Amino acid sequence: MIKEPDTLMLVGFMGAGKTTVGKEIARQHHSQFIDIDSEIERVAGKTIPEIFIERGEIGFRALETQVLASVQTFNGVVATGGGVVERPENIAVLKNSPATIIYLHGNLESTIGRLIIEGQRPLLQEKSTAEFFALWKERDPKYQSVANMTVETVGKTPARIAAEIIALF
Ligand code: S3P
Repeated sequence: MIKEPDTLMLVGFMGAGKTTVGKEIARQHHSQFIDIDSEIERVAGKTIPEIFIERGEIGFRALETQVLASVQTFNGVVATGGGVVERPENIAVLKNSPATIIYLHGNLESTIGRLIIEGQRPLLQEKSTAEFFALWKERDPKYQSVANMTVETVGKTPARIAAEIIALF
């Protein structure tokens, strides 16, 4: 069932386009946009790679949980980080969220291509392609379990994906 989209939250793997599409939805729909990763950087006063180096993934995830809770009733579009489904407590927050949650589903090929161009993902540096694929397969059902709907992104521009999402409401 589609909820009233006061808060629209995008989930999906790293490099799925959550930030780009989220900004595009906000632009087309004249709404506000917030990115959980940017908010974590603002709260910590450090970049994500610096947080991973200084506090480890555990420290990063603690900040992510804190920021996730604070944006549940944000009036606009929220882009989450790809690892938001790593903690069961976050999954519980998302399942009970008043937000409409959309899973941006891509494929591994296009995702890896985008991540190599963008860089800045600590987990990409740590993992082999096989480990990355395993993470992809492990997270996919988790994104499905929290999302109200899934939007396929392969071969589509951010503007088109945004327009498709806006048309759902
Ligand atoms: C992560 C994804 C990143 C960022 C961090 C960890 C992950 O966000 O939160 O590097 O575990 O998948 P994006 O999905 O925006 O890349």
